[in-house]
Amino acid sequence: MIHIPFTAPTPPFDIEKFSMDRNLALEVVRVTEAAALAASKLVGCGDEKAADHAAVEAMREAFNSLYIQGRVVIGEGERDEAPMLYIGEEVGLGKGPRIDIALDPLEGTSIVARGGPNALAVVAMADEGGFLNAPDTYMEKIAVGPGFSKNILDLDAPLADILQKLAAEKGGQVKDLNVCILDRPRHEDLITQVRQAGARICLISDGDVSAVIACAEAESGIDLYVGTGGAPEGVLAAAALQCTGGQMLGRLVFRNNDEIARAEKWGIRDLKRIYTQDDMAAPGNVMFAATGVTDGPMLKGVRRFPGGAVTHSIVMRSKSGTIRRIEAHHNFHRKTGFSAVDS
Ligand code: FBP
Repeated sequence: MIHIPFTAPTPPFDIEKFSMDRNLALEVVRVTEAAALAASKLVGCGDEKAADHAAVEAMREAFNSLYIQGRVVIGEGERDEAPMLYIGEEVGLGKGPRIDIALDPLEGTSIVARGGPNALAVVAMADEGGFLNAPDTYMEKIAVGPGFSKNILDLDAPLADILQKLAAEKGGQVKDLNVCILDRPRHEDLITQVRQAGARICLISDGDVSAVIACAEAESGIDLYVGTGGAPEGVLAAAALQCTGGQMLGRLVFRNNDEIARAEKWGIRDLKRIYTQDDMAAPGNVMFAATGVTDGPMLKGVRRFPGGAVTHSIVMRSKSGTIRRIEAHHNFHRKTGFSAVDS
């Protein structure tokens, strides 16, 4: 198939006059759809790098068709280690609102490589300076959905105490609660604490962005997310919670001096600081979009068939609180040459 690079049409309005106020959410979903469609071709391929690369390339091409002056704040890594969508990279057509972007073209690279559940393509957008410049380290995280009293979370309190408070505010018992935790040896102690407290546990192999979002979705059956995962994923999850409601705390975890140096390079002075969701993603004007790559509780994965595919996405905006679910039917024959999605 001949691939004609996508050229954006001239806007029929004065794009410079628009700001983040314009609802970019429906445009951003094309970006996550493009990444998900590209990654979906490699489900089960056994090659994490190939799956990630496909998603990154597609996401970058799709971004460069949008009338934005975008700057990647949470991306694929630093410039010397990531050829595309690196931190600081400018994306978009260079006209339109100035926005900061947090992205993960493939949240769950190993999930896709082995054909597992719950991989997503994710983008969040905020006004300039709206995201924490989180280094690529780990972060301790704890999150709940909306409706609980302020400051119910605590990264240092025994989990049993937090579970008691959550159960009391929900009008139930600790045994009714379900706690989501990444299945990692480092979480042995957390798992023991939850079991001893009497709550149930949902262990996941990967993908803690959707695990945090699940806390805010009543039908997910998840009440609390706790554990250590990627710091960039923490910022993406905080952006989503700004749209859905909910609370989250995060604290960076450093394994060596190199990681500390990276954090300091991004302006982090207090290495032990506990960040709220407001510190990680400024409230007020955040957009979040995700498209399922493989099936998960939040989103169905890409369904491919000869000549096309169906994608399922969620698009949210903190300002309005609107949450849209979008099922898109893509006809690859008709998209050739004018879309970032053409196979
Ligand atoms: P990738 O998208 O980089 O594959 O991350 C998947 C993930 O499971 C994240 O959701 C999570 O924050 C992180 O990895 C946990 O890291 P680790 O696999 O090192 O425990």
